[in-house]
Amino acid sequence: MGKQIEVDIVDLAFDGKAVAHNDGKVVFLDAGLPGERVTAEIIRSKPRHDQARVLNLITKGPHRIKPTCRHFGGCGGCAWQDLSYERQLHYKTKQVGDCMERLAGLPDVKVHETIPAPDQFRYRNKMEFSFHTATDDSFTLGLHRRGAFDEVFDLKACYLQSELANEIVATVRRFVRDHSLPVYDVVKHTGYARFLVIRETTYTDQVMVNFVTNYGEFEKSDELVAALTALSPRITTIVHNQNGQKSNIATGEIEKVLSGSGSIQEKILGKIFRIKANSFFQTNSAQTETLYRTAFDMLSLDGDDRVLDLYCGTGPIGILLSERVKEVVGVELVTDAVVMARENAAANDISNITFIEANVVEYLRNQAPEGDPFDAVVIDPPRAGLHPKALRRIKEMKPPRILYISCNPATFARDAKELVAIGYELPEVRPIDMFPHTRHIELVSVFSQS
Ligand SMILES: C[S@@+](CC[C@H](N)C(=O)[O-])C[C@H]1O[C@@H](n2cnc3c(N)ncnc32)[C@H](O)[C@@H]1O
Repeated sequence: MGKQIEVDIVDLAFDGKAVAHNDGKVVFLDAGLPGERVTAEIIRSKPRHDQARVLNLITKGPHRIKPTCRHFGGCGGCAWQDLSYERQLHYKTKQVGDCMERLAGLPDVKVHETIPAPDQFRYRNKMEFSFHTATDDSFTLGLHRRGAFDEVFDLKACYLQSELANEIVATVRRFVRDHSLPVYDVVKHTGYARFLVIRETTYTDQVMVNFVTNYGEFEKSDELVAALTALSPRITTIVHNQNGQKSNIATGEIEKVLSGSGSIQEKILGKIFRIKANSFFQTNSAQTETLYRTAFDMLSLDGDDRVLDLYCGTGPIGILLSERVKEVVGVELVTDAVVMARENAAANDISNITFIEANVVEYLRNQAPEGDPFDAVVIDPPRAGLHPKALRRIKEMKPPRILYISCNPATFARDAKELVAIGYELPEVRPIDMFPHTRHIELVSVFSQS
């Protein structure tokens, strides 16, 4: 047993850990909320900070609320269901401010209050569940336990997805059990059933079920289709993806459509977007509309502008911007996403947009037109932020305006520091809550040349 301490929690850190002070050192705790006093056990000690596990809550904080979900605490999904929503927003705003001040060295950038999500539950349009072998020939299907990537618990209900999606989880679990399908073993790399991915649209009420397995024919597929079809007519398509790679990700290399068209269509700001199993789409449809609307309001464009949409996915930003500008070029790495981006443009009758399948770094280095700069560049990268080589090229191109949408304030702050250092102005940053009860933060900003 490590050393026991009694501390007051004063803050929440960027990764969701609670922060306290003890013996002149910062202590990061696995639980607890600001305003609470706890006893904890130090589990790791470093020269400048300690890590501790909360043993007992001595004084309850003013913002603690009763969590809605029975799995809260043990589930790796939600981190903050026991914190009032208003305080969740407060800490998200504060964390963006901390990143701008400490990581970017830009304390004067105005960080607006985080825009709340309209729905705090049932907001996700995509959830991924893992199959996991247990020691005694049984298996689990659900989400990872908090802090334990090698453990999956049997999920009964998740409040971030629809009730139908919860029924789909139960149906697929029963199907795998009743048909004795072997579950994939992540250590031995044997077995078949790997993941269940459910995607559902908010505005068009369509559901896609994606059963992801190891390589091999899915002989009982008709029976799974029958079981799911009997569940609800809202399930408009069912697909089977095979993934024989060791890396534990719920995407497939070989896809077979078992029923329906293999895609679902979501409506965002009046335009239709096709979503397939393996392509990126923002996971909170209602708040995506707020995200894009906020971004477009901040990026004032005119009818003669040419826009470069980097990391464009299935093309929503460029497609929505296309009617305001002369021309848009979208760049995306994933083939399926580019194919769909082109289809989405055609389905929405848009002809002034071109999509290029390329790595952003390669595109900027070898394909971006010389001497004819874009008026605005949109950057919406994955969590890692801009690749250093892409950033270097953008600094050389010096577009008059850059719309940067980020899902990671830390990498955003790193990139913002570099852009401001070469003369860009960054007056404000607008955090948007796309993911209530989790510590994930999305933000929008526009850099402009003075
Ligand atoms: C956060 S998503 C943004 C998608 C899109 N802008 C939207 O709003 O739906 C990031 C996208 O970048 C793509 N991507 C990741 N790394 C890339 C790279 N090096 N070059 C091009 N695209 C990349 C991913 O496939 C994904 O579609």
